Amino acid sequence: MEISQRVATTAPSSTLAISAKAKQMKKDGKKIIIFSAGEPDFNTPDAVKKIAIKAIKENYTRYTPTAGNQELIIAISKKFREDNDLNYSPSQIVVGNGAKQIIFNALQTVCNPGDEVIIPTPYWVSYPEQVRLAGAIPVYVELEFEKEFKIDPEKLKRAINPKKTKAIILNTPHNPTGGVFSKKDLEKIAQVVENIPMLVISDEIYEEFVYETPHISFASLTKDLYKKTLTVNGTSKTYGMTGWRIGYAGGPENIIQAMIKTQSHSTSCASSISQRAAFGALNLPKQEVKNWIKEFSQRRKLIEKKIREIKGVKVNRTKGAFYVFPDFTEFLRTSCGEKQIKNSLDLANYLLEEAGVAVVPGSAFGLENYLRFSYTLPPEEIKEGLEKIKQAIDKLRS
Ligand SMILES: Cc1ncc(COP(=O)(O)O)c(C=O)c1O
Repeated sequence: MEISQRVATTAPSSTLAISAKAKQMKKDGKKIIIFSAGEPDFNTPDAVKKIAIKAIKENYTRYTPTAGNQELIIAISKKFREDNDLNYSPSQIVVGNGAKQIIFNALQTVCNPGDEVIIPTPYWVSYPEQVRLAGAIPVYVELEFEKEFKIDPEKLKRAINPKKTKAIILNTPHNPTGGVFSKKDLEKIAQVVENIPMLVISDEIYEEFVYETPHISFASLTKDLYKKTLTVNGTSKTYGMTGWRIGYAGGPENIIQAMIKTQSHSTSCASSISQRAAFGALNLPKQEVKNWIKEFSQRRKLIEKKIREIKGVKVNRTKGAFYVFPDFTEFLRTSCGEKQIKNSLDLANYLLEEAGVAVVPGSAFGLENYLRFSYTLPPEEIKEGLEKIKQAIDKLRS
């Protein structure tokens, strides 16, 4: 039986593929330093685990309402109000199986065949595939290294087709570049989209991971933006809870209610136990999260310093998430013995085999010549990994 054209033409998630290859090599006994993970290395807090265990013991194991458990929805509404200056009533909130599924759900809910969805590039790997799976067409707006990967309002204007543009996906703090859009940057985007009837999907999953510029929610800027923005977040990154699969969104009531309808026929609801755990996470003292962020900020400085020590590699000063996205253009179209390095995928494979270091090629995010490094590993490993990369890069000849 043939699979649908829609799915046959969907690329598998290449970030997951590289991590899987590196993990396999590790299992086979090789020492591999993994810079390719998309998740924090700290564990889910014990207090959260205890709440989940209690939920199981108390038989909190049945379907919850499709939109999510009421106590969790109220906690999310409070979080949006206190952290993001956003007033979403419970009927404007939906809980799903991770921010990934929330965005998938939103695109399924709003897109008609042939609609266009604007995606700034480089992008998080799943956006274009999710747009295509919803029958829509991704339209790319390139972000430039020289402009710190900020959105150029003129380029954005040119990408909008008043008859076809249905949505734009914004992401700040940004995966893969580690950039953060300041209030000024967001205002520039706002001026372009303000009078155009389109949905803004604002993916704020890394909101706590900011080191210099505070995180601003796009929807909080003006009343008009509030009415046209779906604010997406979740517990995965902030609380070391990627496996629990809890994401959520606040937004216009008609969109949220339609998303709940879509969810009722797909996943029914997020795991009841994970919802209890997420409720516990949202009630944790803020200090716990702040300590992790301090640690990440130190690692960020270290990794940028070590990357700058590799002659010929350019790297921006990053401001958020836990990624850096250096430019390796100088080392493409080179070779080491029989090994030809034609593109970022060849370079990532070369570094995995030669240096025992896993990174993600820029091509996975729609931008060649770059590699993405996560700093979700201890400082000693960051140092060792970058030393190994430096040695492997030294062997490349043009
Ligand atoms: C930009 C971005 N959005 C969303 C997600 C998905 O997060 P979740 O675990 O909540 O599905 C990720 C995960 O890597 C991400 O990088």
